[in-house]
Amino acid sequence: MSAKGSARPTVGGIWAQSPEGVIGKDGTIPWHVPEDLRFFSITTTGNPVIMGRRTWESFPPKFRPLPARPNIVVTSHPETVASDQNNVWTAASYAEALDLAQSLLKQPDGDIWAIGGTRIWADALAHPELPLRRAYVTTVDLPVEGDTVAPELDESWSHRELADWAESSKGPRFRVDEYTRT
Ligand SMILES: NC(=O)c1ccc[n+]([C@@H]2O[C@H](COP(=O)([O-])OP(=O)(O)OC[C@H]3O[C@@H](n4cnc5c(N)ncnc54)[C@H](OP(=O)(O)O)[C@@H]3O)[C@@H](O)[C@H]2O)c1
Repeated sequence: MSAKGSARPTVGGIWAQSPEGVIGKDGTIPWHVPEDLRFFSITTTGNPVIMGRRTWESFPPKFRPLPARPNIVVTSHPETVASDQNNVWTAASYAEALDLAQSLLKQPDGDIWAIGGTRIWADALAHPELPLRRAYVTTVDLPVEGDTVAPELDESWSHRELADWAESSKGPRFRVDEYTRT
């Protein structure tokens, strides 16, 4: 039993990637798929989200913090994040962010979402007590080049299709897969 009791949260990752695994370019996402933004919003609303500083900065100021969910930003420069805003916290490490997220859960067995980028997911995958157990991965069918890539999920993960290929109102095809591991 953990110090926080027997009920434990599920930590999930959520991202959208090109077929080659690109997730970002020049501090932004190199496509616009509003249907996937809606899926992201529905999935994460009400639950703490953990992100790196560059992901925080990738949101236009008028869209951050992400509404109706605690926003936890991992950074060694907390002064660059307006943490005086409601619903924004900073943490110096992923481990600190995860502790904070647990303290902010409405229920101890609630969901926590690691929303990027690369180091956040790497730390979440490797966390000794509460590693990533679920990942929602949207594949956007565009051959884009970028500077940031999605984590690779090894054979310990099983996978099922959540939503088959569909055409975005903005053009590219996309599909959603769920990965889980015990
Ligand atoms: N397609 C998608 O689903 C998706 C999702 C998220 C992000 N993105 C894209 O990915 C890019 C941003 O991701 P990124 O990987 O470059 O950066 P990031 O992880 O968002 O931010 C990196 C910064 O966060 C802090 N940080 C992150 N992990 C840390 C850790 N474990 N320990 C301590 N500090 C940590 C450090 O901040 P300090 O330098 O302040 O110390 C680091 O410089 C953008 O292009 C964004 O649009 C895409």
